[in-house]
Amino acid sequence: MRRIAVLTSGGDAPGMNAAIRAVVRMGIAAGLEVYGVRNGFAGLMAGEMERMTARDVGGIIQHAGTILRSARSPEFREEAGRRKALRKLSERGIDGLVVIGGGGSQSGSLALHEMGFPVVGVASTIDNDMYGTDIAIGTDTALNIVIEAIDRLKATASSHNRGFLVEVMGRDSGYIALMAGITGGAEAVIIPEVDIDPDTVAKELVDAYARGKAHALLVVAEGAKLSADELVKYFEERKAEIGFELRVTVLGHVQRGGRPTAFDRNLGTRLGAEAVQALLDGDYGQLIGWINNRPARTPLSEVAGRVRYADPALYELARVLAR
Ligand code: F6P
Repeated sequence: MRRIAVLTSGGDAPGMNAAIRAVVRMGIAAGLEVYGVRNGFAGLMAGEMERMTARDVGGIIQHAGTILRSARSPEFREEAGRRKALRKLSERGIDGLVVIGGGGSQSGSLALHEMGFPVVGVASTIDNDMYGTDIAIGTDTALNIVIEAIDRLKATASSHNRGFLVEVMGRDSGYIALMAGITGGAEAVIIPEVDIDPDTVAKELVDAYARGKAHALLVVAEGAKLSADELVKYFEERKAEIGFELRVTVLGHVQRGGRPTAFDRNLGTRLGAEAVQALLDGDYGQLIGWINNRPARTPLSEVAGRVRYADPALYELARVLAR
């Protein structure tokens, strides 16, 4: 292997820059030429890539986002798009690729691998919904942003007789909502994995006040079947009966833009470095994740496109601790 490329794909995640930096510097240390591909798989198909030096990745470890930029590319899901990408890689003499991204992006990595190109994936998504890693790059930073918001909301919530709803990211998995509920101390959590009706939710919040709590705070994952909008409507229509209103905060993309925590900088660094090592070892078609406190390789075929749902035991713990 002489020349490798690295790209970031899907939703950006704090710590991606640490991973890019590690790939570039590890690659150079191993005597490789390293190319940075801009705009994910879309950029790969367009041949947007440049050689990177160790200096190009200086001063980036502390920043969220990705210096290579990212994209979600429907065209790459088609075989014609992937053939285009392979042509660009061959034109530039690239013989290995590192894809930093979540489960959807790693389906793209697997497809390239199955077409015979040496690819290694790096687990990165704030949702923490990937197989092949205990925790993905970006999750820790996002969670810290959420609990900071919850801490602040609790301060104002404790001054009023109201319900507060915080909507957090997590399309398919309730990991962020659940962990935010546990570590932020929410009164109730709603996640895609567990069906709940608005009567039960209202009762939980009313009961929280009845137990003498100073606030009634609800964390809702964006992918939950019972949406924040439905709940607001429900509370509005029954305000007299319930006794208080529901105020809503949607954290949205704020969750992705935080200064990466030390954990995510380390995770990005360790996984990025391991990705280069896997390419050097000829161990292609692997996802590099973090299992049992160290980098681990799992075949992309076992992880790509699959969703790892939140642990039901943690849901029960969140309920118990909300007493
Ligand atoms: O996959 C990460 C994620 O942040 C999800 O939590 C969220 O649903 C999605 O990306 C948002 O994607 P986009 O930035 O493309 O709107």
